[in-house]
Amino acid sequence: MVDTTKAVKEIQDKYKVIGRTEELRQIVLTHSVSKNLLIEGEVGVGKTRLSKAIAEFYDSNFYRVDCSEELLPHNLVGYFEPPLVIAKGYIDDSYKYGPLALAMVNGGCLFINEINRMPESTQNSLLTSLDEGILDIPKLKSIKAHKDFFVIATQNPTAHVGVTVLGEALKDRFIWINLNYQSPEEEISIIKQESNLNSGNADKIAIISQNIIQITRESTSIRRGSSIRGAIDLATLITQYDNDNSSKNWIEAAVMALYNKIELEDGLTQSKKEIITNIVLAVLNKSDFQ
Ligand SMILES: Nc1ncnc2c1ncn2[C@@H]1O[C@H](COP(=O)(O)OP(=O)(O)O)[C@@H](O)[C@H]1O
Ligand SMILES: [Mg+2]
Repeated sequence: MVDTTKAVKEIQDKYKVIGRTEELRQIVLTHSVSKNLLIEGEVGVGKTRLSKAIAEFYDSNFYRVDCSEELLPHNLVGYFEPPLVIAKGYIDDSYKYGPLALAMVNGGCLFINEINRMPESTQNSLLTSLDEGILDIPKLKSIKAHKDFFVIATQNPTAHVGVTVLGEALKDRFIWINLNYQSPEEEISIIKQESNLNSGNADKIAIISQNIIQITRESTSIRRGSSIRGAIDLATLITQYDNDNSSKNWIEAAVMALYNKIELEDGLTQSKKEIITNIVLAVLNKSDFQ
């Protein structure tokens, strides 16, 4: 049995992860039984942050793959370099190891970002590695995974537009962990930490920024609200103004920080700028910020 409480505390302290105690406990537990981890959650909930912290905590090599529809099996596994094959034949020297093969040979974390964007043919090339720890490379060899090989994958919620569903076979090989938005208090701490806020106004700036993104998530005019990145960008920008009390400055910074991070519902009469402006004003006009 591992001491999960101690491990979780160490991860939080060492890698400045705020909160996520429950989820980290689940992750440590999963790792302790050598299972593969699939972290699901909206953009900005901390999937990448947690994955990197875990890999570093276990002192692992970190091999990262960012998925797209163009990611083919050879990008993941590896391939023979034709000129080398002609010169030397099908030997190890002619083979360019991909991240999966490298992680299996050297041991370490294979981090597969947005795995749901991976084409099915590429998904299939992962199957035997994931459950038997074996990777067959035709004409070369069969790789047996190092004992410290493990996989962390992330995906956006399957309800998302434009997200393909992960194949059943692959899903079956992962332990699933879900990340929801953190509490406003935790988000405020994250904003302060990640925006390096240290002026006398740090608390106020972080709270206003958090309140603004919170409303973008609740507004009926907005289909997709802002992740915490919006608040981190907003807070970082506002500290660069001479006057962080001016509503004009807050509006300008909020439009810059949030414009690309939110998506409006169809058929609205208001523009995105107007909607952001109204949200900023509503937050600034709350009595606590007067
Ligand atoms: N619990 C947390 N503690 C500290 N920083 C966090 C936490 N969650 C998210 N962040 C920060 O928020 C931003 C978005 O997180 P990230 O891991 O990139 O999200 P995702 O991969 O889910 O899109 C990053 O700057 C990250 O460092
Ligand atoms: Mg990420």
